[in-house]
Order: sequence, then C-alpha cells, then structure tokens
Amino acid sequence: MKTLSDLLAEGVAGRRVLVRADLNVPLDGDKITDDGRVRASVPTIKALADAGARVIVTAHLGRPKGEPDPEFSLAPAAARLGELLGSEVALASDLVGDSAKSVVAALTDGGVVMLENVRFDARETSKVDAEREALAAELAALADVFVSDGFGVVHRKQASVYDVAKKLPAYVGGLVDAELGVLRKLTDDLERPYVVVLGGAKVSDKLGVIANLLTKVDKLLIGGGMAYTFLKAQGHEVGTSLLQEDQLDQVRGFLAEAEKRGVELVLPVDVLVTAEFGNTEHSVVATDAIPADKMGLDIGPESRELFASKLADARTVFWNGPMGVFEIETYAGGTRAVAEALVKSEAFTVVGGGDSAAAVRALGLPEDGFSHISTGGGASLEFLEGKELPGISVLES
Ligand code: 3PG
Repeated sequence: MKTLSDLLAEGVAGRRVLVRADLNVPLDGDKITDDGRVRASVPTIKALADAGARVIVTAHLGRPKGEPDPEFSLAPAAARLGELLGSEVALASDLVGDSAKSVVAALTDGGVVMLENVRFDARETSKVDAEREALAAELAALADVFVSDGFGVVHRKQASVYDVAKKLPAYVGGLVDAELGVLRKLTDDLERPYVVVLGGAKVSDKLGVIANLLTKVDKLLIGGGMAYTFLKAQGHEVGTSLLQEDQLDQVRGFLAEAEKRGVELVLPVDVLVTAEFGNTEHSVVATDAIPADKMGLDIGPESRELFASKLADARTVFWNGPMGVFEIETYAGGTRAVAEALVKSEAFTVVGGGDSAAAVRALGLPEDGFSHISTGGGASLEFLEGKELPGISVLES
C-alpha cells in the first residue's frame, strides 16, 4: 500500500486530494456529543493542507435513505473540523453536483472543503457494481489523488471507500495506517494472557468475532445486553432482559467450544435489575435469581470486581461494547469499572470503536490511559474476525 508519507514525499502542492474520512459522529440535534472521529481525522487532513494540497473531504453521517435529508447533514462535522483546523471548511450543499464543483473550483492551495453526506446518493451503498462505479467516477473527477482515511468504514464495499480507490492514484491515510498497525498487534504479535471484553446489545452482531476469538484468547469476558443470551444458554432465567432466543443454539456452541479449548469464558454473576427500561429504581440480584418481571441493565458490583480481577494480569486487552446502559448514570458503573481496570492495567489495551470509545470519553476517563482507542467499531471487529476489508484490499491491489 502506498502511504500518506509516500504521497507527501511525491509532493502534493496544488493537487486536489480527495480524503475519505469517517465523520459519523453522534449528534443531539445539530450538536456533536462526541467529536472523537473528527479529531482523529485532523492529522491526515492537516498534513495534506500544510503541504499545500487542495483537500476535498468526503464522508457519511448516519444511514439516510439515499437522498438528501437535512437531519443527516454534515454541517456540524464541517464546522467542528474547521474549528480544529483553525480555518473554515466550506461545505458543498451536494456531493458531486454544481455546488461541489464550484466549491472545489474555488479551493486554493492548503484549503479544505467538504462534500455533503455521501449517502445522500443511493449509488454510494448500491449492491450494483456499475452504480457504485458511476458515482466513484464522478467523485474521482473532482480530484487528482485519493487518500483512504475513514477507518470506521473500511469494511464497507461502498463507492467512496472502495470503487473510487480504483479510479485515482490511491494512498492509505495516517489514521487507517495507525489503526491497522494496532490491530495487527492483536493478531500477529501478541503478548499473553490475551483477554477480550465484549459487551453491547446484540450477540448476533458479534457471532463471527466470538467464533474467531475463541481460537485466540485466554479469557473472554461477556457483559452488556448480549450476556443475557449466554446466561439463558447456561440455563438461567433472565426475566425481561434483552434475549436473542434465535441465537441460543449458537451460544451453547460457543460455551462448549470455550470449554474444549480451555478458554475461560466469564459471565456476570450479579446484575442491576429494574422493572422498565430507563427506570433508575433498581436492585442488585445474582444472575441465577433474576425476577421474571425485571430486566438487567448493568453488571453488578461483584461482577465488576470479578471482571477487574480477570483483567489484572492481562498483557493484551481488547474491549468492545459497554457493560450496561452507560448513557444513564445509574447503569454506567459496569462500563466504568471495565474502563478503569484497563486504565490501571499495564497491558497493551485497545478500545474497539463505537459505543465503547464514546463511553470512555462520556465517563471522563483519560484517553491516554489506553494504548489505543479505535475509531472503528464494526471495522475492528471484522478485522479481528479475520474478514477481508474491501477498503483495505483495494489499496493493496
Ligand atoms: C460506524 O459508525 O461504525 C461507521 O461510521 C460505519 O457506519 P455504518 O455502520 O452505517 O456503515
């Protein structure tokens, strides 16, 4: 893969560089509630601008339905990027239309502009190759060079991630390069014990990665909503907690596989339960005594200690997914306990994107307390699952 450093060495002054970034940030109205992905995008964009490139940023926000929708405008991301760069980032009102063309034509050396949400065009996510390629050709016509720096989307075979890389000289950006370096350390060159903590709502999102991790890890700690399907598979009643009945057989298979391989699979031993989602009145019960009319929304105090003790001697840790509904303070304790155990740990600690990265910041934990906080949730899981990432393989070819 040709890198950003190669591109800078070739010289970029006056060249139009299309940068695919991942600016898919959580919003409350038009306020960004966690700007981690925008901040992570700055170094590559700044390096290019400082070298005199004319930088055109393309990105998505959310999952609009293939047509313009103001709710998913990149305006907040463009404003935040401008603040971080210290110079205004003009936002085109379209993707490859008249506005985009005129914003790009007005670019001067060292300037940065942004195209409106690439998913406002249905061709971006089309399954039809020719449709994606047509959009990629229009994007490519705006630029001379492509830099792939949206790590959070490299697992997507989409026009602005995959197809455009075939239409322009393509380079891997600094963020994607750094993320891949860290993930390779988790696969090729790891120090043991290797402990993985998984949480989040659905087991079904993590089936592939669990299957693969069972062949690699020493301990697998499971919390969050997905733990209830594991508890049920072990024969416990889980009340009205989140449960994926259709995954029970698969999960029983994981339990058996873990035992066969000598992988310590650790589940919560107590949980905070309540009558209704969001209700902060709660009690702590053992996981073999969850009342029929209650749901678990966080791992309990004993589980927190148990998980922290399992993390204490780890040399490598990967963590993806919150332990409970951390957005509600009452149910943030489990996620905080895992995060704090990682901060204390001497291990190489990686936080895998999405909600867990947002949780680290929302809970006010020091970002430098972790070896790496990934910007890609789905992407890092697919990498660890051993899947090919289209946005990377296209750069390698
Ligand atoms: C993410 O939030 O994980 C990335 O931005 C990818 O978004 P997507 O899951 O909508 O493709």
